[in-house]
Amino acid sequence: MSVLQEISSNVKNMKQLEYSALARRLKQIKEDLRQGVRKPFKEVIDVSWGDPHRGGMKPLTFVRQVLAACLYPQLLIDNKLPVDVRRRAQKLLDGCAGRSVGSYSATGGIPEILQRVSEFISRRDGGVPSDPENIFICCGSQWALTRILNVLVNAEAAFTTGVLAPASCHRTTTLSIEGLGGVVIPYYLSEEQGWELQVEELQRALESAEGACNPIALYVINPGNPAGHVQSRRSMQEVIRFASEKRLFLLADEVYQGCIYGEKEFVSYKRVLAEMGPPLSDTVELASFHSASKGFMGECGLRGGYVELVNLDPAVQKYIYNLFTTDSCAPLLGQIALDLMTNPPLPGDPSYFQFDQETQHIKSTVVKNVKKVCEAVNGLQGFSCQGVEGGAFAFPRIHLPAKAIQKAKDVGMQPDTFYCLKLLEEAGVLASPGSEFGQKEGTFHIRFCILIPHDVLEELLRRLTHFHSQFMKDFS
Ligand SMILES: Cc1ncc(COP(=O)(O)O)c(C=O)c1O
Repeated sequence: MSVLQEISSNVKNMKQLEYSALARRLKQIKEDLRQGVRKPFKEVIDVSWGDPHRGGMKPLTFVRQVLAACLYPQLLIDNKLPVDVRRRAQKLLDGCAGRSVGSYSATGGIPEILQRVSEFISRRDGGVPSDPENIFICCGSQWALTRILNVLVNAEAAFTTGVLAPASCHRTTTLSIEGLGGVVIPYYLSEEQGWELQVEELQRALESAEGACNPIALYVINPGNPAGHVQSRRSMQEVIRFASEKRLFLLADEVYQGCIYGEKEFVSYKRVLAEMGPPLSDTVELASFHSASKGFMGECGLRGGYVELVNLDPAVQKYIYNLFTTDSCAPLLGQIALDLMTNPPLPGDPSYFQFDQETQHIKSTVVKNVKKVCEAVNGLQGFSCQGVEGGAFAFPRIHLPAKAIQKAKDVGMQPDTFYCLKLLEEAGVLASPGSEFGQKEGTFHIRFCILIPHDVLEELLRRLTHFHSQFMKDFS
């Protein structure tokens, strides 16, 4: 007999991603192309994920050399690899049980790596102390977030747990909240103000949840996904005060901290909280997430992320530790990727020059991409795009004609999903619809990754421009 009836209703009620219909169509189109079916494009540009390597970005040589030597220690004994690569790989292997990346590590991560990650955090935050005991390495930051939500969302409570989350929001987070039996309380970012997070809107959202659930946490993404904004210090201070007043646990998703393109600099929530001083700095409970998936390294597939906990009751931290124990440990290659992200080669190291050149190249490519996207998209009738200050995506708004909206309704689709499906079928570009991430009623968006080579971006924009003009003609 099937176990279907035993499956929790929380899991059954998880909404299917808008993306699923597009993914199915993508598979079919790829198969058609493989079989030689003629289409207006030779291959699909898939920019629906925040996955730089998928989009054609090259891995960093230093990172791959160290990983290669860790996987195949024979490389340590000849001198084909630079000496600092071999030294680093040796040091990392010395921290692995049995000197092998095939072994398990301690639950929270390899102690030496946890130590170096905590030193990175402290350097990043202008000397604010960081204790490796408060850091847990996980198979990706999303997994770490889900583990923390495991503790915060109480599916057995009489009153459903509520988590304030931005709209638009990284979709897997809202899925995790719902899958664990919590509810998402959406707060809208102000698109007109460059996707600013406004505390009045947090207040409105919280009031809207009164009597419907028990709000326990506030989730922020900075720099934003999909919105691409970077929060100012002032905005972060307001959020911290709000979390304190309303007794909300602050979940700060900071995985795009290395991806900043404009004037604003990234400041961590932990640093802002520490600089606000007591009583806030001693009381607001915070979990901050970071990952090797993002930034200019983009090693999504290695699955290395961490969470740092601040001001947590040790009793709560014990439960979190227990939950992490059920995963045994994060993949060792992911842990090593985190070590390399947080401790790159330094000036004077043999690998420094090449490392610097490669990271500068990626950075200048993305800065060029951002400029190009804004110019091109804002030049199209019916499109508008806020400046992209950080993150991995452009998230322009499309003002769809009424006829297109009606047509989408007729075929049972969200209007921006309909647009993305046509863009895929007719131009071979796979972007994500805004409806996937939540958006203000009556507005429509598409999201695409900008951490891609410049020539790929140019081809994407060429196809989008051509497609869009035809689409507007067809539906106006
Ligand atoms: C805001 C945000 N947080 C977390 C993640 C997940 O990252 P990881 O690969 O570390 O699980 C993503 C991935 O796209 C993201 O956009």
